[in-house]
Amino acid sequence: ARKFFVGGNFKMNGSVSSIKEIVNNLNNAKLDAEVEVVVSPPALYLLLVRENLRSGIEVAAQNVYDKPNGAYTGEISVSHLKDSNVNWVILGHSERRTILKESDEVVASKTKYATENGVSVIWCCGESLEEREAGKTVDVVTKQLEALKAKISDWSKIVIAYEPIWAIGTGKVATTEQAQEVHKAIRDWLKNVSPKVADETRILYGGSVTEKNCGELSKQPDIDGFLVGGASLKPAFIDIVNCRQ
Ligand code: 13P
Repeated sequence: ARKFFVGGNFKMNGSVSSIKEIVNNLNNAKLDAEVEVVVSPPALYLLLVRENLRSGIEVAAQNVYDKPNGAYTGEISVSHLKDSNVNWVILGHSERRTILKESDEVVASKTKYATENGVSVIWCCGESLEEREAGKTVDVVTKQLEALKAKISDWSKIVIAYEPIWAIGTGKVATTEQAQEVHKAIRDWLKNVSPKVADETRILYGGSVTEKNCGELSKQPDIDGFLVGGASLKPAFIDIVNCRQ
């Protein structure tokens, strides 16, 4: 069975004091042991979080570069993450695809480099409102997945996050039916990789997840967890982790 997974993407938010408070809250919380929890603070706070957060909760960066250490001013190194016991990274987030212009190929290349060098990846995909309204949702997500499949062969270090762009930070959560439909399409597509990969890969939903809407979403057969943005900065994140209890 796929272990339920809840990720918290802090994006470019927080401060030393607010992030210490989040860490303390997590350290003192009773979290469902059946859930894998990964939090992703901004790069500058990764070590602060890793050094203060209790073991059993993993930490993710929000970006990496696809090259070994060297002359790449400003980039985040996979080996530095490993050295800091930061074992995850979020890649392909729509904010990086759209604002920072990362192509499907760049995202796939970073995913390959990270996973081949021991860092697991929360790999994000999803359509815009315009694409959804044009009936292209599955085509868009499939194209993003095809670019990934072209570069990687080992899927064991990948968790997929389906995040419809129109649901991110808007308060407009996808309905359970909308989310389940795309999650099922992704799982069906994964059968092209292999039945084992389709069966074992976790597919998370992201986009305006709150403590109020997570319960229903978590009951869908192909929803294996969440990637939480805004609510991951609040105590409600703990309720989302515990949504199946
Ligand atoms: P919100 O939960 O704030 O909508 O953000 C979702 C997201 O982008 C997580 O990566």
